[in-house]
Amino acid sequence: MVRVEGVTKVFNPRKRLFKSGSENEIRALNNVSFAIARQEIFGLVGESGSGKTTCGRLMVKLEEITRGRMIISGMDVGSLTGKDLKVFRRLVQMIFQDPYQAINPRINILDTVMEPLTIHHIGDQAQRVERTQYMMELMGLKPAKNFLFRYPHELSGGQRQRVAIARAMVTRPRFVVADEPTSMLDASIRAHILNLMLQLREEFDLTVLFITHDLASARYVCDRIGVIYRGQMVEVGPTEKIVSMPLHPYTQALIAAVPVPDPTKKRRPPPVRDQSRIHSLEGCCYMARCQRATPECHGTCPTLVKTDENRYVACHVPDF
Ligand SMILES: Nc1ncnc2c1ncn2[C@@H]1O[C@H](COP(=O)(O)OP(=O)(O)OP(=O)(O)O)[C@@H](O)[C@H]1O
Ligand SMILES: [Mg+2]
Repeated sequence: MVRVEGVTKVFNPRKRLFKSGSENEIRALNNVSFAIARQEIFGLVGESGSGKTTCGRLMVKLEEITRGRMIISGMDVGSLTGKDLKVFRRLVQMIFQDPYQAINPRINILDTVMEPLTIHHIGDQAQRVERTQYMMELMGLKPAKNFLFRYPHELSGGQRQRVAIARAMVTRPRFVVADEPTSMLDASIRAHILNLMLQLREEFDLTVLFITHDLASARYVCDRIGVIYRGQMVEVGPTEKIVSMPLHPYTQALIAAVPVPDPTKKRRPPPVRDQSRIHSLEGCCYMARCQRATPECHGTCPTLVKTDENRYVACHVPDF
């Protein structure tokens, strides 16, 4: 369903004035590749500033790719224009962390959820209203009639996020980027929204990129996880394997930071040596914080290498 091939995103490039690697460049993503199968929920996990949102925004074409290629449902995202772009906008949607970003506080719930149907000329007015109500009830806003003429500020955070998801789903997209959809919600409501994501996948044959910095949420919903560090994919694999046997030192640090439910399980101390933000362009992106760094790591930047069925790690000294 989705193929991301060597994608790089540079903000503020001043190509002719400065050479690449100048201080004015922010390399938010660096040569990132992964694929997502149909009906798969793929988790993109990493700390703040690692490039997760940038990756999501590129996939829904809110931002232009600097280098590389993204193919979604057979469409080349970079080169879409006109009619094809319109089809893409219907089939590919994004759910944001803050539902207020996605919904206008001055527009009532009916018009909020229905708007994409109007924009894409789907059905007549009566059909749109019916589909809107159906989608709202599916999202747990029941009975829909009680919500239609209310305004976002009259709803709870969880309900607002359900409205935002209903709006994203009403055009029946095939692929959705969910950018930390639960990070602003209470723990009890979080579980409901995560279950909703699982239900949507089944019901709508949906493929999802699930962005989160919360490994517990990722573990709950994702089939596979990609771990991203400073714009580089450092490890990709099935969720259970990533969680139970992380190979990359950064993934190990992430896992060590999460409480382990099983007290008999041995924990490693977080292998973080140096919090320095300075890093050279040569060598491994994780070198400054890595305890296992060898001379080789100072020389070349490791790329993802297959270690096991379905498993990839970008490390010169992976912990096998
Ligand atoms: N429009 C922009 N212009 C310039 N730099 C940007 C822009 N958007 C993102 N960046 C930079 O790109 C890097 C990656 O940011 P991004 O928002 O993708 O990270 P993130 O993983 O989503 O972080 P968080 O977990 O905090 O949401 C950061 O250094 C950020 O400052
Ligand atoms: Mg983000």
